Amino acid sequence: MNDPDAFLVVEDLSVEFPTPDGPVRAVNNLSYTLGLGQTLGIVGESGSGKSVSSMAVLGLHDADRTKITGSIRVGGTEVVGLNEPGLRKLRGNSVAMIFQDALAALHPFYRVGSQLAEAYQVHHPSASRRDARRKAIEMLDRVGIPQPDSRVDDFPHQFSGGMRQRAMIAMGLINDPSLLIADEPTTALDVTVQAQILDLLQDLQREFNSAVVIITHDLGVIAEMADEVLVMYAGRCVEYGPTKEILVSPEMPYTWGLLSSIPDVSADIDARLIPIPGNPPSLLSPPSGCSFHPRCAHVDKVPGDLCATQLPELLEGSNGPGHVKRCHLANPQEVFRREVLAEIAPDLVEES
Ligand SMILES: Nc1ncnc2c1ncn2[C@@H]1O[C@H](COP(=O)(O)OP(=O)(O)OP(=O)(O)O)[C@@H](O)[C@H]1O
Ligand SMILES: [Mg+2]
Repeated sequence: MNDPDAFLVVEDLSVEFPTPDGPVRAVNNLSYTLGLGQTLGIVGESGSGKSVSSMAVLGLHDADRTKITGSIRVGGTEVVGLNEPGLRKLRGNSVAMIFQDALAALHPFYRVGSQLAEAYQVHHPSASRRDARRKAIEMLDRVGIPQPDSRVDDFPHQFSGGMRQRAMIAMGLINDPSLLIADEPTTALDVTVQAQILDLLQDLQREFNSAVVIITHDLGVIAEMADEVLVMYAGRCVEYGPTKEILVSPEMPYTWGLLSSIPDVSADIDARLIPIPGNPPSLLSPPSGCSFHPRCAHVDKVPGDLCATQLPELLEGSNGPGHVKRCHLANPQEVFRREVLAEIAPDLVEES
């Protein structure tokens, strides 16, 4: 975090879409850094800007219809404002993305193997067709597709959901990217396949020492995979820090809500599952002050109408450097223990 020499440096990134109803500010002043060999988890409800911010890292937004400000440096190359040839080079050589929807990302009319081979040949123009096919089979084997020699000639619809997701990962990794962005790589899969895919991602990361951004709704995935976590709400970073701290002593009520709404926060059978009340806000007319205040149960603990009128700055909390949160509460740790932990994991509160 805050390492200006890291492989990925996102600084004050904002992404805005002009729409007939007015501008949609999907990402607001987002900053984070990520080193090689490290994994960053990005969490937040639907529509919080996770995909939009990550797509900006690959320069995937239509420049004519998107206003992007700030800076994104990948291996020292500035991505914001980079021209199409520059972007193409970047996407092949250093960055790859595994998309949310594998079926949509694989072309239905082309065989899986040809799509993999083409992805390889685009960035290895001197490779023969035979080399590219061999590489495609090798990658399918690497991601655990059985009989890769014959499955290489299947069409995407002949693959199961889990196999398609593996094929997407193979496609993402075929050019050994230094940075891999995995957008909900396992959401559509059953738990067993999900665990296998996550293991696979971890193995491949170790092998290639790549930087990985994993986007997910699932804090269980975060706990297993991420070194650091960035929590997004309504296009903003609301909490960011080392995974352990974010999961054990979070300081922002929205993060508490995410923790309370997952089933496995504690093995205690008495633990309760409490969904976050209300809906994510409209980005066309976001709430004043702290975007989360209309849904926050702790507004009355902050003097005056600060929460409704003033956007909290992203500031260091009581966990020390490297953990920042956007919240006006003066004593978040105490409130968390007394009101949140006591509800969702009473054993943990009694133990200490
Ligand atoms: N091209 C676009 N034009 C207008 N608004 C857009 C466009 N693309 C995305 N948005 C809006 O930007 C916001 C953030 O979208 P994004 O896809 O980043 O959400 P997300 O956090 O990835 O959600 P999910 O968990 O559902 O994938 C949403 O409100 C979305 O409707
Ligand atoms: Mg998304």
